[in-house]
Amino acid sequence: MPDLAPLDDTITLDQLDRDPFPIYRRLRAEAPVLRVKSVGRTLLTKAADTKYVKDNPDLFSSDDPNTPMKRAFQAHTLMRKDGADHLRERTAMAPAFNPKVIMGEWMPQYNQIAQDYVARLPRGEVVDLFNVLSGAFAARGLAILLGMPEASDEDMMEWSQALIEGAGNFGWRDAPFERSDRANAGINAVLDAARARHLADPNPSAYSVMLNADDPIPDSQIYANIKIAIGGGINEPRDALNTTLYGLLTNPDQCAQVVANGDWDRAFEEGVRWVAPISASSRLVTEDTEIRGHLIPKGDTVMTIQASANRDEDVLENGEVFDVYRDKAPHQSFGNGPHFCQGTHVARRAVGQVMLPILFDRFPNMSIPDTDAVIWRGFGFRGPIQIPVLLE
Ligand code: HEM
Repeated sequence: MPDLAPLDDTITLDQLDRDPFPIYRRLRAEAPVLRVKSVGRTLLTKAADTKYVKDNPDLFSSDDPNTPMKRAFQAHTLMRKDGADHLRERTAMAPAFNPKVIMGEWMPQYNQIAQDYVARLPRGEVVDLFNVLSGAFAARGLAILLGMPEASDEDMMEWSQALIEGAGNFGWRDAPFERSDRANAGINAVLDAARARHLADPNPSAYSVMLNADDPIPDSQIYANIKIAIGGGINEPRDALNTTLYGLLTNPDQCAQVVANGDWDRAFEEGVRWVAPISASSRLVTEDTEIRGHLIPKGDTVMTIQASANRDEDVLENGEVFDVYRDKAPHQSFGNGPHFCQGTHVARRAVGQVMLPILFDRFPNMSIPDTDAVIWRGFGFRGPIQIPVLLE
């Protein structure tokens, strides 16, 4: 029987929150399978291992009862289900993510939102784009796609943050759950009120397609999975936009080339590779198994660190560097396997094809006057939490 992975009691959650990348680089070289005491999980930092785990749901289940997610969402969402149960719920929402619907319905509306939200930004001033542009744009688009346009941008952003913090409340403290409970109540009220409208007037929004399906999933799951999309559909495009913007504005040569060639898709893809908005995911081990010669026992929780996999020296060179024009840039920022992000195409188009070109068109000489004022945070989710940009 192989040995358990080594146990680390030096890495702190605060270090991971502030700047995990030097730690990941060391772990990839020295201890790619490591039990980290402060996280209470076995961290996997190599690309082959993170992909292997997500591609093998029989061995590595998403249904981990030890996480605070169920408590935060007041429900067992599709993200924490496996097999047929997961597939049924994912399929229920799928028509809203159909490529034709994305192009025909959602992108024209995302385009209008981007135009409006960029137009209201003041010229010649330094503006922190975090909420006023990046968060608000993601919130408005998602409210429309989900079928709850009555919700304000502020409500959507607050609910998303509250659900994420509740889901990450591993200390099981009261305050984050009280905040996520308020978010649940707010979302439930909007969905209750919009129900009759969607039943009377079926449309391609996620709520409507789930309600009007021939064999609908239970109401509890319709609500739960809309909440998952709120939790997963605002912070990530926001962080992807801010990260890509930072990468471009701090690399003027690349930026000039991207603008000249219209290489927005490449820029977006490099942004999410460089700093994965969802940096880590958890899976519950269903039977004793082995990774890189270490015993991974049944009942253990492994954490796939896609933020590290994206910089793995076995896969690409100079992964620590933002380089839109690198030769080969595979990444795992949208996950792998059955839980592969359902919003991938929406996010790619909304941020890469819609927002970035509109923003650069209006402010072609944008700059970041003080890079120290850009503050990065996050272990599970990561991006700048403040990004002051001079809009010119
Ligand atoms: C750049 C933006 C985004 C990134 C990087 C991202 C990343 C991810 C990742 C890594 C997962 C898998 C988590 C796991 O395996 O445990 C995921 C799942 C998911 N994402 Fe995204 N996401 C983004 C945008 C969106 C958007 C805009 C939406 C909704 C419109 C969305 C909806 C979902 C849903 C519903 C799931 C759960 C899928 C399932 O469990 O079957 N995401 N996302």
